Amino acid sequence: MLKITVLVDNTVIKPMGLKGEHGLSMLIEKDGKKVLFDTGQSDILLKNLMKLDIDVDFDAVVVSHGHYDHAGGLKAVLENTSTKVFIHREAFKTRYAEEPFKGFIGIPFKKEVIEDLGDVIYIDRAREIIKDVWVSGYVERITPFEKGDSRLYFIENGKKVADIVEDDMSLYIKTKKGLIIVLGCAHAGLVNIIEHARRTTGVEKICGIIGGTHLGLVGKEQRRKTIKFLKSLDFEFIAPNHCTTQSVIAELKGIFGDRLLFAGVGFEHEFS
Ligand SMILES: [Fe+2]
Ligand SMILES: [Fe+2]
Repeated sequence: MLKITVLVDNTVIKPMGLKGEHGLSMLIEKDGKKVLFDTGQSDILLKNLMKLDIDVDFDAVVVSHGHYDHAGGLKAVLENTSTKVFIHREAFKTRYAEEPFKGFIGIPFKKEVIEDLGDVIYIDRAREIIKDVWVSGYVERITPFEKGDSRLYFIENGKKVADIVEDDMSLYIKTKKGLIIVLGCAHAGLVNIIEHARRTTGVEKICGIIGGTHLGLVGKEQRRKTIKFLKSLDFEFIAPNHCTTQSVIAELKGIFGDRLLFAGVGFEHEFS
């Protein structure tokens, strides 16, 4: 059994008093294990878990990368349950974005705070965290057109450095129908991630893609070439949310029709 539930997203697709915010968090339940992927930016995650009647106990928490909208809720989670936390070594950089969302966008607490509360496991390579669920580790940047988000930078030795978000990680879930790719923000590039998933797991077939594709925040050429690549895949579903943005989700709906699922807060997808 595999089930994916969206706990935090920019939009809410079910009533019940669920809340949304700019951020992402998804729960992966597989064969009795619970993996929390990202934590949104605040304690909205805990409130939504309560509304959805889901216990705050996880076999692992994975932080996709060191941006506040994915890691900001981590402290609140660990104050309620002490668990393993998989995070990339480079996630705690001091990060910023330029206009139109100018300002600090890194993790809003020091790593020592998290190390005190949970069992933090720093990684940089792919690793199977529960049976058939892999966390990607570093994803090689191979495609020439996936240039990423030019507004991002970090400060190193007092200097501004363009931030390719090398800590960006995704989950790869092996199923009988192929791979399910679970994205945080896809800063590594969606095509790079899919090809890395195939190399890492040895599985070619892509069954589904869910999460933040970043296609709403990259250049036109990257978006066009990525969509062309997606059209070449024979996947069952694509459920883009978060940094995909509403206008690009609408564009993808026009292309992929019934295979496009809206994955706002409250979305649940079960696989047998
Ligand atoms: Fe994000
Ligand atoms: Fe991000």
